[in-house]
Amino acid sequence: MIPAQTVDLVMQTALIEEVVGDYVELKKSGSSFRGLSPFTNEKTPSFYVLPEKGIFKCFSSGKGGSVVTFLMELEKLSFPEAIRQLAQRYGIEIEEEKVTPEQHQARTERESLLALNAWAQKWLTDQMNETDEGKAIALSYFESRGFRKPVLDTFKIGYCPDSWDSMSQAALEAGYSKERLIALGLVKETDGKPWDFFKGRVMFPIRDVTGRTIAFGGRTLRSDKKIAKYFNSPESPLYHKGKVLFGLHLAKPAITKEDRVLLVEGYTDVMAMHQAGIENVVSSSGTALTVDQIKLIRRYTKNVTVLFDGDDAGIRASLRGTDLLLAEGLNVQVVLFPDGDDPDSFSKKVPSETLERHIREEAKDFVAFKLELLAREAGDDPVLKSEMIHSIIESIAAIPDGIQQGVYLKLAAGELSMSEDLLQLELNKIQRKRLLDQQKAEKREAFRQRQGLDSRAPSTAPPNLQLPADWSQQHPLDIDSGGSVESDPLIAHRNVLEADLVRLLLLYGSEPIQIEEAEGEIEKVEGEIEKAEAKEVTVSFADFALHHFEGLELEFHHMACQSIWAIYEAALEKDEIPQMDRFLKHEDPTLQSFVADAVFQKDKVSERWGEVHQIYPAREIDQLKKALMDALHHLKLNQNRLESREMQVKLEGLTEAINNGEEAAVLGLRELLERRKVLDIQKTKIASYFGVAILP
Ligand code: CTP
Ligand code: MN
Repeated sequence: MIPAQTVDLVMQTALIEEVVGDYVELKKSGSSFRGLSPFTNEKTPSFYVLPEKGIFKCFSSGKGGSVVTFLMELEKLSFPEAIRQLAQRYGIEIEEEKVTPEQHQARTERESLLALNAWAQKWLTDQMNETDEGKAIALSYFESRGFRKPVLDTFKIGYCPDSWDSMSQAALEAGYSKERLIALGLVKETDGKPWDFFKGRVMFPIRDVTGRTIAFGGRTLRSDKKIAKYFNSPESPLYHKGKVLFGLHLAKPAITKEDRVLLVEGYTDVMAMHQAGIENVVSSSGTALTVDQIKLIRRYTKNVTVLFDGDDAGIRASLRGTDLLLAEGLNVQVVLFPDGDDPDSFSKKVPSETLERHIREEAKDFVAFKLELLAREAGDDPVLKSEMIHSIIESIAAIPDGIQQGVYLKLAAGELSMSEDLLQLELNKIQRKRLLDQQKAEKREAFRQRQGLDSRAPSTAPPNLQLPADWSQQHPLDIDSGGSVESDPLIAHRNVLEADLVRLLLLYGSEPIQIEEAEGEIEKVEGEIEKAEAKEVTVSFADFALHHFEGLELEFHHMACQSIWAIYEAALEKDEIPQMDRFLKHEDPTLQSFVADAVFQKDKVSERWGEVHQIYPAREIDQLKKALMDALHHLKLNQNRLESREMQVKLEGLTEAINNGEEAAVLGLRELLERRKVLDIQKTKIASYFGVAILP
């Protein structure tokens, strides 16, 4: 229990603007402070701190309260945890009234883990600085690499002795539990015997924004290539690798001051830069940057300089992560080091001023840099060149700011000696595609939501239209294609297929069908592991049909089909299913007659079938899902063939244009080749649906 007067003291002492300032870059405006909400992803600041009143208010998330509430919300702490954290920060001693064993137990797990990590950090540092083994092995290692004592102290570097269990023994003796040692990955257990996971390694504490040790990276001192250079702590309640930036705690003031962060690859690079007097430096833990890490950066600055190691492979790998930076609206520059050098080695070769100047003067705008790099690689190969242009435009398209985009387009046009308009067209295409993808995702989400609503799937078929449907004997309708006889067999076939699909919709649209929830899911949410439990849900056949039609990226050519489909789409969005008589009353006579044909022709066929054969074959209505999927796949195949044919013609045209030296042609080439690949894969998939090999 923390005594009430201590809670009061803590709350009076803590400066809310200071504590919040650890997480949010605050700008003073009048008597308050303002910044970007740490709770949401807003782009204009609507997060306020009023120091006089000791409160914060976040208008984009609605959260608000005291300095304690802030910590509880952001760090997911309990009230006592938040108070303890503040007490520690402001040097207030908490004389907890006689901690009973139960109360001790009740301390949250998180705090215990933090305490253990704090202990471990100190113990490891002591091992390096104060034991013979540590001095002889670890300290001298750092010395030989040119790291001096002050920087090792700043980063609280340590050493884990090369014996099996000296750390675990010391921890157990100090009263820490084996379970927690294991939970933090400091100790492993084999046959009930604990052993030190990091034995024989120099230790880099990984700290959160407030400076607490949440994990460790341990570097081996052997040069044996078979041993992993670094071991890192596993994910734990304290540590989520993708959400942490190494060195951020120490870099914060410098980042704010310089309004820029330098991004390097390794722990040692961060340390070397610090030693050279450059402190606005962080690194991810050897992985590509994550969105979370970028958001963390964004709290402090919008300007990022990425420092690449000299080798090409590394640069290529990092290029991808860099688009993410652009997408989050950051200004990105890159700096290269001479061949084979990384920031660490380079910083040891030259005086600090030279390093500083190198970073300042060699910084290239990222898009310009990418342009240069790729242009060099692509050379004269038209396919490579086309790919490269696309990749550049993709980077530019990722930038949220339109003006900035314009600047880059101009730059790219100059560098590639292509017209700006042409590049703008390509950019528009990419953006349109992104928008469409987004809309599709929204539609899918809406479908998923609707699955939950059983009520909206009426179970009765429309009145007067109880049609015994036979399935095997079904003749798709012939569509009157406006008087002119369709001479293109592919298109003629397509009309028939479209009519058949719409017929299914008209006849069975309101039938309820059972699906497993997962059937509705075309894409899984990234990173989420799909649960095996398959829940049955009821949806209307119309909803099911439209969803799969969308999913297969199909579209109608025939006008009447298009109109009917659109009516269904609009109705479903309002949770309704259009009834047949609605179409029979439609003002467009073509549509009316189309619907009538669908219904009555159908009716006749099946009646006759019954009379003649005296048997009823499998009813279509019982196999709606299969009927739909067959119809959709036939359509898809037809679409694929139509498009492949078009593609071939375009390719021939382009090849000729490229041979004639037309600059625009090269742009289209990549797209066509990509599309052709997609079509080929599609065809294979359709074939496997039908269980046959489909010939071209
Ligand atoms: N890394 C890792 N595991 C490995 C290798 C690397 O987690 N087996 C991560 C570490 O965060 C490391 C970063 O990737 O800091 C960069 O790797 P590298 O350049 O190999 O390491 P440096 O930190 O630069 O180490 P050194 O200078 O000692 O080679
Ligand atoms: Mn390195």
